[in-house]
Amino acid sequence: MSTADRTNPASSLRTAVAWDAVRSALDGLAKETGRDTFDVVDLGGGTGGFAVALARLGHRVTVVDPSPDALAALERRVAEAGVGGAVRAAQGDLSTAFDVVDPESADAVLCHGVLEFADDPAEGCRTAARLLRPGGLASVLAANRPAIVLARALSGHVAEALAALRDPAGRFGAHDPVPRRFAETELRGLLESAGLAVLAVHGVRIFADLVPGAGAADPAPGAATVRELLELESAACARPEFLPMATQLHVLATRDAARPV
Ligand SMILES: C[S@@+](CC[C@H](N)C(=O)[O-])C[C@H]1O[C@@H](n2cnc3c(N)ncnc32)[C@H](O)[C@@H]1O
Repeated sequence: MSTADRTNPASSLRTAVAWDAVRSALDGLAKETGRDTFDVVDLGGGTGGFAVALARLGHRVTVVDPSPDALAALERRVAEAGVGGAVRAAQGDLSTAFDVVDPESADAVLCHGVLEFADDPAEGCRTAARLLRPGGLASVLAANRPAIVLARALSGHVAEALAALRDPAGRFGAHDPVPRRFAETELRGLLESAGLAVLAVHGVRIFADLVPGAGAADPAPGAATVRELLELESAACARPEFLPMATQLHVLATRDAARPV
């Protein structure tokens, strides 16, 4: 598939690292369980970029999201992709998910770009854990606190970098659209307190947001192409020394069968 295919999460700088990690974790689960299709819940799944791609692989996906607009866009995307039977849209949020999905009904739970907006991120992590069957996988993506300090400083907004550095939620000011960002230790702690065992942490967009013009459909002569950046991001994503620079952190965790949640 070409890197220009915007419906493929593997070809977008925003999604490639998390997508590759989720795919290979599901491949691992398939080997372990002898099953090749899984029940997936996408908490705050929005318009269904991952849900549709997972449905195309044969999985059954329930998207839980509070936004009627996002769910309407999801329904359109599902219809266009012809995966209608495999994706269910359910209106709900992290605190009401059990009104629409049963506990212990998922082999995998995604929670991408949602904990930042949750009133209670710890409760959100417990919800993800309780949705999982023992041995199931959680995939969590959240904004990385140290990276915003670097990003604001490099763009010349030094006062905002200092504000983000000092703010426990990592916000660079009242106009910051993101309510909360997490340091790696904090994210690990939230997941472990919810009864999940962390398997891997990946950096997402370590370089992409720092490279001028990155991701442009028609890069200027000599500028980095999406393909080059995808290769660089993929090579660096699992290297711990680059994690503080990543715009987002992706954490894969598992519900330990022996631990109650
Ligand atoms: C940044 S978007 C991410 C969408 C999708 N997960 C993705 O990665 O493209 C955040 C999504 O979380 C949803 N959301 C916001 N607050 C939420 C909450 N408390 N519980 C569940 N979803 C929430 C929003 O409606 C939106 O669709």
